[in-house]
Amino acid sequence: MRHLITTKDFSNEEILALFKEAKDFLDEKPRTYLKGKSVTTIFFENSTRTQSSFETAATRLGAKVLKLDVSKSSSSKGETLFDTAANLDAMSPNAIVVRHKHSGVPHILANYTHCPIVNGGDGKHAHPTQALLDLFTIMEHFNYDIKGKKIAIVGDIKNSRVAASNLELLPRFGIDITLVAPPHFMPNYPLKKTNKIKEVIDEVDIIMSLRTQTERHNVPTYASLKDYANDFCINKELIKDKNIIILHPGPVHRNIDISDEIMADKRSKVLTQVKNGVAIRMAVLKKLILES
Ligand code: NCD
Repeated sequence: MRHLITTKDFSNEEILALFKEAKDFLDEKPRTYLKGKSVTTIFFENSTRTQSSFETAATRLGAKVLKLDVSKSSSSKGETLFDTAANLDAMSPNAIVVRHKHSGVPHILANYTHCPIVNGGDGKHAHPTQALLDLFTIMEHFNYDIKGKKIAIVGDIKNSRVAASNLELLPRFGIDITLVAPPHFMPNYPLKKTNKIKEVIDEVDIIMSLRTQTERHNVPTYASLKDYANDFCINKELIKDKNIIILHPGPVHRNIDISDEIMADKRSKVLTQVKNGVAIRMAVLKKLILES
């Protein structure tokens, strides 16, 4: 049984095959590959786009979607994760997509269920489909000629599962990473690092901006988000007319992560990422369900 818990679960060849398929799915036409199948989504943590993206993907492939409403589910009545998993499994879904605030929950579920588990984000650990759609967006933009392209990952890298998955995935495809963050958001990775975005702005082809993960901070780490914005907001003054693209997994803190002006700029790929995300998740669900 295959699962997608981290980006390590797929080889580079498998990822390129997924991208080929996702490219076809960009036409947004309905398919019947998963007719008669069912996909359960269970999001123990809030989500704006990831959950609806998975649901759109499953529906577009012809699957039925069962969306488990966690606020009404028995986990809020004290049911253990093991029992929730066993009960979900007893309904025999063909795949379960799970998000949880604790790292490792999708991995644990995979031990107790009989269908593929797809990690929709677990704690600070991993968010594999987000990294896949980020890489796909980069590949599509540069016509698959990405070896040696340079990316600055900017913001709360230490607390971001999106960053964690991208740090695993992007170097496998020859992308050169510089981490840009204040000291308390900087993880302990052996990569190029700086606290000043101006130092790298002339060298990079891509900026990936990340949200400050305030919900994961035990104590406030910046005097105010405004102070953070002064140093790290991606705005016109910073990027001028440079030939670069800007990514962000969402939700964007406007004028803190990225300015209004740059959000509306052609170089911002934020909504392209959302569109690409559905196609990538279609390819992932199809692969895991039909190959299991
Ligand atoms: C991210 C997440 O939830 O990990 N959002 C997303 O899935 N698109 C990033 C975030 O919350 O900042």
